[in-house]
Amino acid sequence: MESVLRYSRSSIVHNPVLVGQVIDFLIVSTGKKYLDLTVGAGGHSLEIIKRGGRVLGIDLDPEILARARQVLGNQATLVEGNYKDADLIAKENGFEKLDGILLDLGLSSFQLDSPERGFSFRFDAPLDMRMSPELGVRAVDLVNGLNVGELEELFMKLGEEKQARRIAKEIVGSRVDHKITTTTELAEIVKKVKKVSFGKHIHPATQVFQALRIAVNDELNNLREVLPKASSLLGKDGRLVVISFHSLEDRIVKDFFKSSSELKVLTEKPITASEEEVGLNPRSRSAKMRVAEKLST
Ligand SMILES: C[S@@+](CC[C@H](N)C(=O)[O-])C[C@H]1O[C@@H](n2cnc3c(N)ncnc32)[C@H](O)[C@@H]1O
Repeated sequence: MESVLRYSRSSIVHNPVLVGQVIDFLIVSTGKKYLDLTVGAGGHSLEIIKRGGRVLGIDLDPEILARARQVLGNQATLVEGNYKDADLIAKENGFEKLDGILLDLGLSSFQLDSPERGFSFRFDAPLDMRMSPELGVRAVDLVNGLNVGELEELFMKLGEEKQARRIAKEIVGSRVDHKITTTTELAEIVKKVKKVSFGKHIHPATQVFQALRIAVNDELNNLREVLPKASSLLGKDGRLVVISFHSLEDRIVKDFFKSSSELKVLTEKPITASEEEVGLNPRSRSAKMRVAEKLST
């Protein structure tokens, strides 16, 4: 564990979340086969490879996959694709009866920190939020195309936003004059409705941005689709490790693990980051990791 923390501290480019716990639960050793369904910039995969594991990595985002290629070189097989197609991609690459599968959900810090991707209200940028240029709908299309009821439902269901109706009305009222096209415009509209309360640390537009991102990338349906496929891909005693960052994802994972007759749950309660890790990497604050083991093939 210490060597892994040292890696996190020294790495300027990336901090994989809960990396020590991921490596421990995957019981990585030479020659074992791992599928990293969200390879991102390759942080977790690199640690698996360092311990002799063989990795097939998938990511939807070609920009981030280029980073993984820089980090991992030819030590891993990397595929641009959607993890909901994990069964096909694994088969095509001869990766079956796996020893471990990792899903580290959500966005990588590189995506969040790339202003032009439009994921963050910290930068003034076009409202895009697509993880892949292949996706057809951008956040700008939803913000300007949905009616009040549809926007309310989106913010409520995917952002768990209590003021969803008022925000939806404010958006529709504002776009009468001109289209809402940027992250800053949207964040300002939300701020008008949600007065910033003293002591609250999260930005008022956090839940609205989360809801739009989930919808644009169809994140919850992708997760529902991949979990049974991942379970099928595991060999006996193989392990499925899932790290989620909000309650909607975590609930899907928890319910799937509970309902599966193929898996034994290894984490009664989700594993969370230590204070030390949160200090080093604030993104780990909301991470919840659940692990299950395949009973038989
Ligand atoms: C939190 S990051 C993963 C970081 C990675 N574990 C690392 O150590 O660098 C999540 C990644 O999942 C990718 N992703 C999200 N949804 C996806 C999907 N449906 N299929 C494939 N990749 C997806 C994102 O593009 C992003 O790079």
